[in-house]
Amino acid sequence: MQLATAAGAGMAGHLLLHSLLLSLPLIAGWTASNCLVTEGSWLPLVSRFFLNCPLNSRLPLLAVCTKVTNLTQALEAVPQSVEGLCLAGSISVLPQDALSNYPGLKVLGLNLRLTRLLPGALRGLGQLQELSFMAPQSKNYLFLHPNALDDLRSLQKLNFLGPCLDRNSSIQLPTSLRQLVVRYSCLQDVGELDDIFPDLAHSPFSGDARTLDVLDLSFNWQLKMASPGALQGLRLGTLHLDHTKMDAAAVLSLGLQKLKSLSVLFTVTAELPAETVAHFELQELQVGNKQIGHITLEALAFCHSLQSLVLQNGGLTDLPPNFLAAMPRLQRLNLAGNQLQRVRLCMNETGFVSGLWTLNLSDNGLLALSPATFSCLSHLRELLLQRNQLTLTLDGWGLHLETQNISEIFPALRQLTLLGSSLEALCSQDTSSFFLWQLPGLQSLKVRGDGHSPRPCCITGLPNLQELKLDALKYRARPRPVQLQELVGELPRLRVLQLARTGLETLSAAAFQGLGSLQVLVLDWEKGLVLDGGLQELSPQMPQYVYILTSSLACQCANAWLEPWFEGSPRTYMWVQPPQLCPAESGGGSKHPLFPFLLNHCQEALELELFLGSCALLLLLISLPLLQEARNSWVLYLQALLRAWFQGLRGQKNEGKNFLYDVFVSHCRQDQGWVVQELLPALEGCPPEGQGLRLCLPERDFEPGKDVVDNVADSMASSPITLCALSHRALRTPRCRLELRLATSLLLAAPHPPVLLLIFLEPVSRHQLPRYHRLARLLRRGDYCVWPKEDEGKDSFWAWLRGRLGQPRCR
Ligand SMILES: *[C@@H]1O[C@H](CO)[C@@H](O)[C@H](O)[C@H]1NC(C)=O
Ligand SMILES: *[C@@H]1O[C@H](CO)[C@@H](O)[C@H](O)[C@H]1NC(C)=O
Ligand SMILES: *[C@@H]1O[C@H](CO)[C@@H](O)[C@H](O)[C@H]1NC(C)=O
Ligand SMILES: *[C@@H]1O[C@H](CO)[C@@H](O)[C@H](O)[C@H]1NC(C)=O
Ligand SMILES: *[C@@H]1O[C@H](CO)[C@@H](O)[C@H](O)[C@H]1NC(C)=O
Repeated sequence: MQLATAAGAGMAGHLLLHSLLLSLPLIAGWTASNCLVTEGSWLPLVSRFFLNCPLNSRLPLLAVCTKVTNLTQALEAVPQSVEGLCLAGSISVLPQDALSNYPGLKVLGLNLRLTRLLPGALRGLGQLQELSFMAPQSKNYLFLHPNALDDLRSLQKLNFLGPCLDRNSSIQLPTSLRQLVVRYSCLQDVGELDDIFPDLAHSPFSGDARTLDVLDLSFNWQLKMASPGALQGLRLGTLHLDHTKMDAAAVLSLGLQKLKSLSVLFTVTAELPAETVAHFELQELQVGNKQIGHITLEALAFCHSLQSLVLQNGGLTDLPPNFLAAMPRLQRLNLAGNQLQRVRLCMNETGFVSGLWTLNLSDNGLLALSPATFSCLSHLRELLLQRNQLTLTLDGWGLHLETQNISEIFPALRQLTLLGSSLEALCSQDTSSFFLWQLPGLQSLKVRGDGHSPRPCCITGLPNLQELKLDALKYRARPRPVQLQELVGELPRLRVLQLARTGLETLSAAAFQGLGSLQVLVLDWEKGLVLDGGLQELSPQMPQYVYILTSSLACQCANAWLEPWFEGSPRTYMWVQPPQLCPAESGGGSKHPLFPFLLNHCQEALELELFLGSCALLLLLISLPLLQEARNSWVLYLQALLRAWFQGLRGQKNEGKNFLYDVFVSHCRQDQGWVVQELLPALEGCPPEGQGLRLCLPERDFEPGKDVVDNVADSMASSPITLCALSHRALRTPRCRLELRLATSLLLAAPHPPVLLLIFLEPVSRHQLPRYHRLARLLRRGDYCVWPKEDEGKDSFWAWLRGRLGQPRCR
């Protein structure tokens, strides 16, 4: 629960950052959200998590959420800029304005067991082009209000995949609609569509017939009737009736004004529907039914308009002699799955030449093909003959390649797939950046090993490689943990790296050094991964998307830094699947979720590392949301950063200088009382009560009239120690957070940072702290302390502070 809220809060900042500066979809990703976000171009890498979502790779940003039970909660993890969204889960009612936060949505899939949409549920989706309602179980009724789709002015495709629709619905279809799909539903009669969508055939506005590219009624197992005139006047491109009990001949009675393509695979259509073809002058026909068996010359005579014919699984044993000549426009012919033992498509004597360019004869009983078979097919470009009983002999073919001359023979090779190869041929013998194959043009390389390579193979030195997939490289005989840098070296243009079953264990910053362009990293089927803490430093250069799929993170303290980093990293979207667990502690019991477990057991290792380290760039990025809080402050911030940097450089030259102050005290106005009443007397007073130190307090010691930035920078440079006081009150005010940021970033920028001491005036949860980045690193163990509430603790507090500040002195 805590995790989810933190992620939500972090997101607002990231989205702001997004709109400000970067064109990156920035949100924190983590399995807690159940939502996977990706860019369209990376969809193929994670497509198996998108299940049967109708999303496509042309959409720039996509998200899929599973196990959705609370829509509001699920959508917290989805950036507003997504254009494709799929929601799967169990919600029965879609509330008003459910998705109005996503005005740019183009494709929406709802697999939610919906029974009802409240009025206005789809409000604000004026750009939506495709909408799908899916239902996991059949006989699940969906009740749509007649005006439910009114807001969808751009809707082109409407899909009902599963739910049954009430006959009385009278749903009004948007005029922009081009494609209507009602599959796996309860239709028994095509005429029911007339009741469900009264304006399907006739547009309500012009009164004219409507034009639709596709009407797909497949997989309505009970569909067997077509009331005459059910689709009277509709101008239709393609009608799909596959897997129904319809006969193609019944299509004639529907009253369609126009039809180009008809598909009646796996229906009761028992012969070539010649009359239907002729009536509409169909260009495409797909038909398949064992009972067809034979095609008569008479039927064929009606089919001259066909450009594409699929006659699959029709039980055909022969073809009429002038089969092709009867269909002079035919370009694509699929006769797969019949029982043709020989085919005679061409007649010697006629001199007829067919325009056919694709011929599929797979899955027949073909025994032989004579050259004459193809004599009239001079345009043929594609011939499929798999699963026949042909014996094929290719004379004069034979290719034997030595590793050394791959580059000579294929100097312009762009894509290469190596299967089952023992990789010695590919890899250099040592770890140098020399790659045996000089393939300067290679852009895509896929290697699938056979588990017999004892050494991992390092792919390196390919200057133009953009995509690399390494699969099944683990040495089966004696698997050993592999580091990323053993697999990839210098690949400066690499954008996508996919590793599956490589035995990879450790991911450290060093491995990313040669991968400056990496955008996506996918780790698939890897076990016990350890992500080195040094990767935090690398944050800005880390790939934008990291997907850890069907893999496990090791239950080790070395991974403990990850959770806060996932929550906070503004640049990298990370998705880990499945939920990660630590083994049950001795004595059985159930397993523990990884991160709470690590946080509880790795306190020592974590300490203030929780606040995360990173470099100045990251700091700058994260500071930007403050723009809202303090206008133009980032200019101040940059100024101060540079100043401190230069002062630091100057300071380097005259080391051993005398400091003006002993301690610079950074605090916020809210905590001034404590500083004046408690801290000042204890430190500035003369011993034995005080320490006799010279404190620099901003409100007291800053030079009046001098620029604040100059003041802060100068004062900090004039004090060897900086003491920071923090409280809830202070952290809640933007101004204070800004001051703290300023102070800490100045600290970071200095080449020789001063000693830093941190005092928490009350226990502060790490969620409340702004991220101090490297601050944590500057703090040595024990450089921070909590001001005790009770008096008895105070002595030890002062003792701690004195110990840190050094000997008392008085001038
Ligand atoms: C759904 O989640 C939101 C935000 O997390 C919460 O405010 C709301 O109460 C939840 N609704 C239900 C029905 O649990
Ligand atoms: C549909 O309409 C008919 C006739 O108007 C009515 O008898 C039937 O109850 C209605 N069904 C539903 C589910 O509203
Ligand atoms: C050819 O037919 C086979 C068997 O039905 C099918 O698997 C294959 O996809 C078809 N190929 C083309 C290009 O249509
Ligand atoms: C077609 O020509 C071949 C040889 O050119 C011949 O063997 C065959 O009998 C001819 N077939 C027909 C149907 O004329
Ligand atoms: C490939 O290399 C081998 C050895 O270097 C050489 O004998 C052979 O002729 C080369 N083959 C081609 C096709 O270049």
